[in-house]
Amino acid sequence: MPKIILETIEELSKWRNHHNDDINFVPTMGDLHSGHEKLIQSAKNSYFGSTLVSIFVNPLQFNNKEDLKSYPPKSIKDHEIAFQSGADVIFIPREEELLDKNCQDLNFIRASKELNSTLCGLNRIGHFDGVCTVVYRLLKLVQPQLLFLGEKDWQQLLIIKNMLKEMKLNIKIKSIPTQRDQDGIPYSSRNKLLKTKDREKLIFFSQKLNEAKNTFLKEDRLDLVELTKEIEGKNINIEYLKVVDAFSLKEAIPSEKISMLAGAIKCGNTRLIDHVFLMKTQPIIAIDGPAGSGKSTVTKVLAKKLKLLYLDTGAMYRALSWFLINENIDYSNNDQLKKSLKGLSIVFKTDVNSNQDILINDICVTKLIRTQEINSIVSKIASIPAVREFLVNEQRQIGASGGLVAEGRDIGTKVFPNATLKIYLTASIDERAKRRKLELEDNEYGSIELSIIKEQIKQRDQNDMNRSHSPLIKAKDAILIESDGLSVEKIVENIIDIYNEKIPQELQTE
Ligand code: PAF
Repeated sequence: MPKIILETIEELSKWRNHHNDDINFVPTMGDLHSGHEKLIQSAKNSYFGSTLVSIFVNPLQFNNKEDLKSYPPKSIKDHEIAFQSGADVIFIPREEELLDKNCQDLNFIRASKELNSTLCGLNRIGHFDGVCTVVYRLLKLVQPQLLFLGEKDWQQLLIIKNMLKEMKLNIKIKSIPTQRDQDGIPYSSRNKLLKTKDREKLIFFSQKLNEAKNTFLKEDRLDLVELTKEIEGKNINIEYLKVVDAFSLKEAIPSEKISMLAGAIKCGNTRLIDHVFLMKTQPIIAIDGPAGSGKSTVTKVLAKKLKLLYLDTGAMYRALSWFLINENIDYSNNDQLKKSLKGLSIVFKTDVNSNQDILINDICVTKLIRTQEINSIVSKIASIPAVREFLVNEQRQIGASGGLVAEGRDIGTKVFPNATLKIYLTASIDERAKRRKLELEDNEYGSIELSIIKEQIKQRDQNDMNRSHSPLIKAKDAILIESDGLSVEKIVENIIDIYNEKIPQELQTE
């Protein structure tokens, strides 16, 4: 595809009208640096469609005229960088045209009051309204499917996300972690305005934020007063330094939820921002649902894609059932059952291809637990309180430091009630029976009448939903996904989209 530069709205509209592909949009204010390069590369690499980069120094978002005057000017070098990074089209509108006051399409958009009334919004009055107004105008003209934004400007990202929702624009945001220079400072167009001694101050500031995060992770404490003292001790002028909830931006004490230590400082005449996210334990995704809903396949693929551990709790109940049958244990006798559970070890082993084996007392039972015999008994065994207590405890131990996707029937309600994300995956009985039949055939257990499988599934649902101990129910805060007619890839994509809404990319790539 030839590289295209569009300079007017008319040129853009003409190009857009003849262009049916999806558009991945990267808005910038020019003076492109490695942070922008990463945004453009990600737009180019991750998706089909064309990558369009806009370059527009938006005067509406400069509350300080001096700041606008000193902002690095646009240069022809930007075109080279954009194209080399993967842009197909560059849009460089003139200010008189894009912000023409007589233009009927120019809506002045106000940023969300809640998100704007903290951090940079408090000191840069009107800044985020200016950002929203211009981004909205650009989105209306470009009509992209995907919008790429940097997490470096996290508050801006949340405000734009909120604007898309309020204005009912069906555009997905893809966020890119803050990109840092070798000395640790985040790339910003304003960095080139820094004198050496000011850059040193910024390096110190970024280091201190990072140290505070590490102390928080190791020692579970964050002393904002001490941190402020240390930074001010280096003659650094702090505009704000706060811990806020990463999504509401309300001041917060770092806790189980993801929070952010964010600050703005003045180095010479230049104002700079930086932040670190604080997350005590790695995320946990809980996927619950009835038999045959596709949980196992979805969870496996999801765990691989997100590089999380896969905790197949169903396999644990099956392995335990196999063990009790194999050892001839009378599980209706509570004392005998409890005795047999003492010191029992259940371990998962994962190979380089993410294939997982389950071992009970060192015996690999991966295949042995997928038989009709186990199918017909597992639900009964799983309803025994002592069995559930034992396995829930094992599961919590595996999940103590997080970083996993767990699937089962009581993950979101009982095992990990504080899971980062809860999904309740289900499908109609017909669809689930068809899937189970295929699974059994694939595992060489022969062909079984669909009607028999349907009956078994109904029976299993009955048992699971009506047992007195941890019945299968959708957790209040779980997101329902009905998977009839959806491919595994589509379900996984939906879950990853929801996950990305909850976990900044910066934390996912650490
Ligand atoms: O982040 C920026 O560079 C600007 O705020 C943006 C999103 C291009 C709007 O002018």
